[in-house]
Amino acid sequence: MRYRFCSSTVLLLVALISFLLSTPLFAQADPTIETVAWLRYLPLDSKAAMNYEKLPRASVLFGKSPVLDSARQELAIGVEKMLGRTLKSSGGIKGSVIVLGTARDLHDVAPSLRLASSLEADGYWLTTTELGHAECLVITAANDRGVLYGVFALLSKIARGESIIGINEVQNPYAPIRWVNQWDNLDGRIERGYGGPSILFADGKVRADLTRAGEYARLLASIGINGCTINNVNAAPGVLEDDFIAQAKRVADVFRPWGVQMSMSVDLSSPKLIGGLDTFDPVDPRVAEWWRKKVDGIYRQIPDFGGFVVKADSEGRSGPSAYGRTHADAANVIARALKPHGGVVFYRAFVYNHHLDWRDPKNDRAKAAYDNFYPLDGKFDDNAVVQIKNGPIDFQVREPVSPLFGGLRRTNEAIELQITQEYTGQQKHLCFLVPMWKEVLDFDMRVDGGSTPVKDLVSGRVFHRRVGGFVGVANVGLDANWMGSPLALANLYGFGRLAWNPGLSSKTIIDEWTRLTFGSDPLVVRTIANLQLSSWQVYESYTGPLGAGTLTNIVGNHYDPGPASSEGNGWGQWHRADHQGIGMDRTMATGTGYIGQYPTEVQKIYESLVACPDNLLLFFHHVPYTYALHSGKTVIQHVYDSHYEGAERAHDFVAEWKTLEGRVDPERYRDILARFEFQAGEAVKWRDAI
Ligand code: GCU
Repeated sequence: MRYRFCSSTVLLLVALISFLLSTPLFAQADPTIETVAWLRYLPLDSKAAMNYEKLPRASVLFGKSPVLDSARQELAIGVEKMLGRTLKSSGGIKGSVIVLGTARDLHDVAPSLRLASSLEADGYWLTTTELGHAECLVITAANDRGVLYGVFALLSKIARGESIIGINEVQNPYAPIRWVNQWDNLDGRIERGYGGPSILFADGKVRADLTRAGEYARLLASIGINGCTINNVNAAPGVLEDDFIAQAKRVADVFRPWGVQMSMSVDLSSPKLIGGLDTFDPVDPRVAEWWRKKVDGIYRQIPDFGGFVVKADSEGRSGPSAYGRTHADAANVIARALKPHGGVVFYRAFVYNHHLDWRDPKNDRAKAAYDNFYPLDGKFDDNAVVQIKNGPIDFQVREPVSPLFGGLRRTNEAIELQITQEYTGQQKHLCFLVPMWKEVLDFDMRVDGGSTPVKDLVSGRVFHRRVGGFVGVANVGLDANWMGSPLALANLYGFGRLAWNPGLSSKTIIDEWTRLTFGSDPLVVRTIANLQLSSWQVYESYTGPLGAGTLTNIVGNHYDPGPASSEGNGWGQWHRADHQGIGMDRTMATGTGYIGQYPTEVQKIYESLVACPDNLLLFFHHVPYTYALHSGKTVIQHVYDSHYEGAERAHDFVAEWKTLEGRVDPERYRDILARFEFQAGEAVKWRDAI
């Protein structure tokens, strides 16, 4: 008896151990892609399904390409899951069908179709019309990608219960560039990634199983994102080795059916580091030749390769300064290699000296991007894009917009937003960033005294840039919910939606995302919207109010409170707090002069203590703690109150979430509850530390 007991225990243990060993550390997504983020396609209840009774039971696709095949397949999956119907494939327009195809491909079969307004690349048109004596639903576009986007738009409407009766809707994207950057290292770790290891790389190679990468491309396509840079901006030179390019080709292959162009970050010194040259001087003809051959080789394997991202002369990276050359020289040598293939180089404006002398009150990291790039305006080739972070420092919880957006007139530009929450709670705190991004994109730079919101500067509506747009640093990982917290995915969704249409309100975006992700229970939709929409301000209130920056440990994890870490070093994230006052004097009159980089009307707002908004006061001015804000409170009282109020609000999040018990599936309910409870504790820690 005793012996039998032991042996079964051993067997149990063996079974348990082998189970644990076979269980991956991070849950793999369901390969049937059933519950991928917001693409859940939950079955509609019979009443809601009635609204789609008239949806044709068959589809017909004109044209042939991997992207069009994805479109048809996605439509079938979505309809099957939500409406429980199998969409038949029809050989032609016979009876009532859903017609898919580009305007060119539909021209002969449906000559009666006349576009209400013009379709741009990637835009789509959903319309109900009579073809061959039957009412058809047409999803058409200028290109294949547009047809796919039209399918996703239709499915999103069905998932959210929106009527499609008599639909006639044209949608064009705001800008051609709608890209994400992944800061993945080849060893599988992700720089500032909080959602598990890389979906792309492990052990110095591209992963053997790229299922998740394919699912990622599908997710990106569903929100209109058309490009993805796969590796860290602090690029490993090895990515340009022939052997690695052959591996990267596999990533491009899984992205392609979703219309997502693959691109890579590269090290400017690659010609020397891996190319066998004794120089990487961008104006040396041997260097130009090296880039040309390298790029030709890439395009032979990856014909739709998107291009390169370059971080140079920043945070210890090599750059053109090594040879006394400019950033335009560096960008152009690469741009010229890409040009014959239609590729683009994104040259990052995040260039600064991280050994600044902090004792000099005139030094200011915030000035660096403008100082470096403004003098080069007009010197970049037309397939080079200067990629500019939204603020002049580094994704802090609140910054003014970078003055460089208004400074460049004859240079393509793109805005870089950070979806991964490096300085905004690292997905352990809820921080829905769409309201912040909207403030940035809507900010009117008043270039030449006219209306020039940032969204129009970067999209090329002002100054007619050839290309431009939006880049988001996403850093999704292998975690089951991609970004660590299920609620953090709203930022990825929101980035895509804003890049498509920055006019959408934060409320609309969160409402869409919640319905797609959690269903349409009104209490769930309302509660999640309230939580998300207040979360940025709550996080700001207990971490860094009044524009002082995020007072995190900037030399360590960028997460915990560490206000002292900002001072006494060359990183330049100074707030100049001492026992009497706080804030960086960036005025033209007495400070670093940074404000002088803005157009005149904006200068007037920030230079004057009276006009400067409270929420950016300490970014622009050094004031005593007793200084009275517009609210009437002193600075010190505000800092005190805001930390207490913020911690209370974070505490309330727990109770608000608890109202959803039984309305959200138990797994996500518990996961998110634990995160809110943790955040409430962290907020108290922040409050007391500051
Ligand atoms: C931040 C971040 C770095 C990153 C850098 C960049 O400083 O902390 O990890 O490399 O931005 O954007 O290049």
